[in-house]
Amino acid sequence: MSDEKFFFPSKEVIEKATVKEYDKLYKYSIEHREDFWAEQASQLSWYKKWDRVLDKSNPPFYKWFTGGKTNIILNAIDRHLLSPLRNKLAIIWEGERGEVRTFSYYSLNREVCEFANILKSMGVEKGDVVTIYMPQIPEQLFAMLACAKIGAVHSVVYGGFSSAALADRINDANSRVVVTADGGFRRGKVVELKSVVNKAMELSPTMEICITVKHTGTEVYMENGRDYWFHDLKALPIAGQKCETAEMDANDMLFLLYTSGSTGKPKALVHTHGGYSVYISATHKMVMDIKPEDRYWCAADPGWITGHSYIVYGPLINGATIVMYEGAPNHPYPDRWWRMIQKYGVNILYTSPTAIRGLMRYGDSWTKKHDLSSLRLLGSVGEPINPEAWRWYHHVIGQDKCPIMDTWWQTETGGFMITPLPITPLKPGSATRPFFGNEMAVVDDNGKEAGICEEGNLVIKSPWPGMAAGIYGDPDRFVETYWKKYEKQGWYLTGDAAKKDEDGYYWIIGRTDDVIKVSGYRLGTAEIESAMITHPAIVESAAIAIPHAIKGNAIHIYAILRNDYKPSHELEMELINHVVHQMGPIARPEEVKFVDLLPKTRSGKIMRRLLKARIMGLPEGDLSTLEE
Ligand code: WTA
Repeated sequence: MSDEKFFFPSKEVIEKATVKEYDKLYKYSIEHREDFWAEQASQLSWYKKWDRVLDKSNPPFYKWFTGGKTNIILNAIDRHLLSPLRNKLAIIWEGERGEVRTFSYYSLNREVCEFANILKSMGVEKGDVVTIYMPQIPEQLFAMLACAKIGAVHSVVYGGFSSAALADRINDANSRVVVTADGGFRRGKVVELKSVVNKAMELSPTMEICITVKHTGTEVYMENGRDYWFHDLKALPIAGQKCETAEMDANDMLFLLYTSGSTGKPKALVHTHGGYSVYISATHKMVMDIKPEDRYWCAADPGWITGHSYIVYGPLINGATIVMYEGAPNHPYPDRWWRMIQKYGVNILYTSPTAIRGLMRYGDSWTKKHDLSSLRLLGSVGEPINPEAWRWYHHVIGQDKCPIMDTWWQTETGGFMITPLPITPLKPGSATRPFFGNEMAVVDDNGKEAGICEEGNLVIKSPWPGMAAGIYGDPDRFVETYWKKYEKQGWYLTGDAAKKDEDGYYWIIGRTDDVIKVSGYRLGTAEIESAMITHPAIVESAAIAIPHAIKGNAIHIYAILRNDYKPSHELEMELINHVVHQMGPIARPEEVKFVDLLPKTRSGKIMRRLLKARIMGLPEGDLSTLEE
């Protein structure tokens, strides 16, 4: 190992680290995978211990901790109430306008019980799917945790999605109840949420009840018998009753989370109470190195997997104090985050490359105004972090002393898969090595292992407890999407291209499928193209990702117009707004280019790769399948 290429952790970080050595424990975790995970699971509470650690009888539908009885709430809240953690702060929340709300584990439990009683009074039962469409306010967490507590399944839909996208997700899950708020604050403006829900409800035959939290004070339309204010329900005696946590099978559903794939139809990954709890709490403890005295801030949105695993469940199971912020990082000034780090004494900050690049562009004067010395550890997720952003994050935010945990994982994996530990020597831009228990590889289309620094498909060779149990209501699609390509070997296809270097470090290159990462958010080209085609001017279109300095990627669309439409700047703007209206602001295309033809393979598939190569002036690669 040549030393110049590594950033070594400081003595202080090593002394504090939960895990002091990687190689030996990694070897043990691979050779004794089930023992390793049983040891991790034993650190949690169970109503009844499992009979089997891993049931491999029906791959790829692996089952972990079968026979075990638990509930994620037993570990995230209930057991803490019996310890000194009872009075510790669980949540410090700051609204965009500066108001602060805090909750101890004791008061968190009260809020969750009240919310759970309210859901029960609305007829929500074990196994029912409750849709949550909310701003980043404490009630969003309470709603999620309340569902888990009574054995209902939450489906959180990110508050930036349109009513059509929301309705698709409600309908796919046959959800009867939705929880929302009148609105949220973003850059000083109100983002109306209830009005989006109202439109979605008109498109959803299964939707019966909407519970609305008052947050912005925006006027909203409420329908008798369908709509309820949360505060009215909270005032009812039933809300204050004792609420038992439901005993669940380890493999019972905890939540659905929709994510983009290669077809236009939304797909919901299913995560369960048992294996997921074990995986995310172990990864969070060992990688984020959480200590009882720490204040931990994951600046993601709870509406994404990062929020589910590493704002809500992982940190709460580990008894952490979590910091949450409602609004934009640059409101009212670009130092909002740095101000909050000093104000709350944050020790661990976990965010995305897109946020880092976005704040980096304001220069260092905003960070210098604040004392960031409380920070000990930094994290990154969502897309590859470019070395320039890595160095700024490390030097300016981390004051050269905080290691950066560049965590590679997916909605499907539940938790970190390739990640450093605090003790790991780092290389800027590499997520380093696999987490314990995980065997990964970079392979070619036939499954042959790629050479050193050779690009290939990233696969996972062995099951892990955080893995999704399936796609809700569509087992075939689960097999088809992730397990078909390397069926013979039984490997999981990640959909990412990667390289492995001479030190065994992984370098993620990006998606190989039809998924675009915009500001770390996952969008399917098929979803964007389906939105385009609902506009009367469009015959066909192709969405591609072009590198963007802040967002990582931006969406560019090539579109063929119907004969009676003429290309114009106005039409381009109209189509851009049309996509935003159909999908939500995160899917705003950078440009729409009008063309007469799209390059296609002989089997009729659009060659997005070729479009991208042409726009970027890159080599066009193998064109043997291009239609004449
Ligand atoms: C990408 C987010 C490089 C990757 C947790 C993956 C990353 C997709 C990293 C999953 C990282 C995530 N370095 N790329 N550290 N983390 N990705 O489901 O392409 O929203 O397949 O989960 O994000 O996105 P998802």
